[in-house]
Amino acid sequence: MKLADNKATLSFSNGSPSIEMPVYSGSIGPDVIDIRKLYGQTGMFTYDPGFLSTASCQSAITFIDGDKGELLYRGYPIEQLANHGDYLDTCYLLLKGDLPDAKQSTDFHKLVNNHTMVNEQMQFFLRGFRRDAHPMAVMTGLVGALSAFYHDSTDITNPEHREISAIRLIAKLPTLVAMSYKYGIGQPFMYPQNSLSYSGNFLRMMFGVPCEDYVVNPVLERALDRIFILHADHEQNASTSTVRLCGSSGTNPFAAVAAGVACLWGPAHGGANEACLKMLDDIQRMGGISKVGEFMEQVKDKNSGVKLMGFGHRVYKNYDPRAKLMQETCNEVLAELGLENDPMFKLAKQVEKIALEDDYFVSRKLYPNVDFYSGIVQRAIGIPVNLFTGVFALARTVGWIAQLNEMIGDPEYKIGRPRQMFTGSPRRNVPGAK
Ligand code: SDX
Repeated sequence: MKLADNKATLSFSNGSPSIEMPVYSGSIGPDVIDIRKLYGQTGMFTYDPGFLSTASCQSAITFIDGDKGELLYRGYPIEQLANHGDYLDTCYLLLKGDLPDAKQSTDFHKLVNNHTMVNEQMQFFLRGFRRDAHPMAVMTGLVGALSAFYHDSTDITNPEHREISAIRLIAKLPTLVAMSYKYGIGQPFMYPQNSLSYSGNFLRMMFGVPCEDYVVNPVLERALDRIFILHADHEQNASTSTVRLCGSSGTNPFAAVAAGVACLWGPAHGGANEACLKMLDDIQRMGGISKVGEFMEQVKDKNSGVKLMGFGHRVYKNYDPRAKLMQETCNEVLAELGLENDPMFKLAKQVEKIALEDDYFVSRKLYPNVDFYSGIVQRAIGIPVNLFTGVFALARTVGWIAQLNEMIGDPEYKIGRPRQMFTGSPRRNVPGAK
């Protein structure tokens, strides 16, 4: 970042001395006011719950322009990346800053493929769970448990440890997600088959069985790969900020990513795709398309507490570019599977149509986000609703690691330690205490 030819002056109406703060510019996007010396100079904190106006870091990985509905990974538009190369090429880009050439791509695919198996002991962790445990509960445990198997690479300050941990996490997440699914349905775990693509391997571990060959459907394979690309990173969202804050203590990458998995689970964040499909199911049970208007009235009634899941976004105040690409992927998959008349997809399109015409949503700039169509396409592929967020976590792991490594690689980084405005009781004595 570079010093802008601008400064911020903070003055106080109570006559306290005003202070000047430097303004910095990045390469694109809003300038920032550097408040690092504010407390030292004024004895005051800034106050910004939810960090609506706070840049927690500088980053060169992902840029979002919420007003334009633009998403760039290392400068490349998501629309182009969704149709260029595959998810592992996008992983290479996010981790290393540039798209791989043919040899780099081949070597990276081979490197990831060499790490797709998990230690045989990992399967015994699953046995401790009920078979009907939510897969995100299982995943939070399994990802954290990975750190117990790699004592040779848990020093996050060591670039080689960061590199191999990144590869292990990217390679093993599909295996762990598939294991949590198989455990839930009482089927045997499928070992990775490294002659398959990353997405093809995941499909086989999910839907293959040991008693017969599994043939990967190339349309589903491509659709899944694109879903992974669309979910790979997204600037300083809640789970990425969690991974950064967790990793800032110097803990190992597996523990930091496990914290990201836990945060992503929430329905306001990565759990929204599961919540969105449940919402569409509810409308279907109410009577389907004819009941969408009634449902929308509930959403607009603040007291109902009902939200239009899959809609709205902290940053996008225009259409989420990923939602458009997800809708296209939905069309392709449903056509491939002969489900063009899928009632859920038709219902979703009707919900979107009504929302985009209703002033309540238009005035609040509420558009479909990445989660609105992803549930429909994943359900069509055969992924169970309660595993949608596990798939999101699988895809987002590369973003979490890239952001964590960027932070640790920054010589200026410190352990994150926000302050507060205290509104509790001033000092008082326990009865009888002197
Ligand atoms: C993801 O941050 C990221 O980048 C996340 C993500 C990523 O890739 O990492 O993009 C992934 O998490 C996408 C978001 C998935 N979540 C959902 O779809 C859940 C439904 N959405 C809402 O919970 C909400 O829109 C948020 C949490 C996504 C954003 O909330 P904000 O920015 O805090 O917005 P807000 O709550 O201040 O809303 C502004 C207004 C409010 O109304 P008023 O008080 O002004 O009258 O819009 C209303 C809200 O009540 N509103 C909604 C709504 N979202 C906001 N009303 C109905 N349905 C909604 N979905």
